[in-house]
Amino acid sequence: MKKSIITLGVLCCMLASCQNKSQETMCTLQENPVVKTIMERRSIRKYKPQPVEREKMELILQCGINAPNGQNKQSWEVRVVDNPELLEAMKEAMAKGHPDMDPAMTKGCFRGAPTMVFIARDKSYDFSAYDCGLLAENMVLSAWSMGIGSICLGSPVRFLTDNTECLPYLEQLGFSEGYELCLCVGFGYADEAPAAKPRDWGKVQYID
Ligand SMILES: Cc1cc2nc3c(=O)[nH]c(=O)nc-3n(C[C@H](O)[C@H](O)[C@H](O)COP(=O)(O)O)c2cc1C
Repeated sequence: MKKSIITLGVLCCMLASCQNKSQETMCTLQENPVVKTIMERRSIRKYKPQPVEREKMELILQCGINAPNGQNKQSWEVRVVDNPELLEAMKEAMAKGHPDMDPAMTKGCFRGAPTMVFIARDKSYDFSAYDCGLLAENMVLSAWSMGIGSICLGSPVRFLTDNTECLPYLEQLGFSEGYELCLCVGFGYADEAPAAKPRDWGKVQYID
């Protein structure tokens, strides 16, 4: 019941945001499973405690590394942490490394996700941040299609890299020489169903 109300809500938002588009486009929106996943995905900031099963994570990771990437350099390295003790220790270190900040910001920056993916970029390749972003997006969308929520996170990149307290944990992630942490993505089973955030169609233009 709750799910059908949410689906109805999402479809209403899609209809509202697409009111100027053709009937044909709307049919595609409602019937195409990829489009449906893209339109229904939301960032999740409240999770059930259990980590994502590793077999499911493997499929999600496979989808990630099959993302388009510059010259097929695959200029990323990916580390998955689902050990709750290690995640807790990292959160503690981020809080300790930022004594002047509200711990809700630092300790809470994983947003409660029980499986964290840390993505590093090859610093020698100027397009590597895009590669990492596309990898993350493939992961996020495939996860959503499997009923798994996610959140892209920039703040832990700062909190883990701008202090010495977190250094042992960065070292434990074991990225190769020449790589730097670029983006984190939390995964888990959603314990909330947030509404869609508005998008600005005005930023898009056709140039004839
Ligand atoms: C590069 C990037 C960094 C982000 N960093 C954070 C973050 O540090 N904390 C957070 O709660 N959300 C973060 N987000 C999630 C965005 O806030 C979210 O995607 C945006 O508000 C749109 O909402 P939606 O994903 O539900 O459509 C980040 C997203 C991206 C793509």
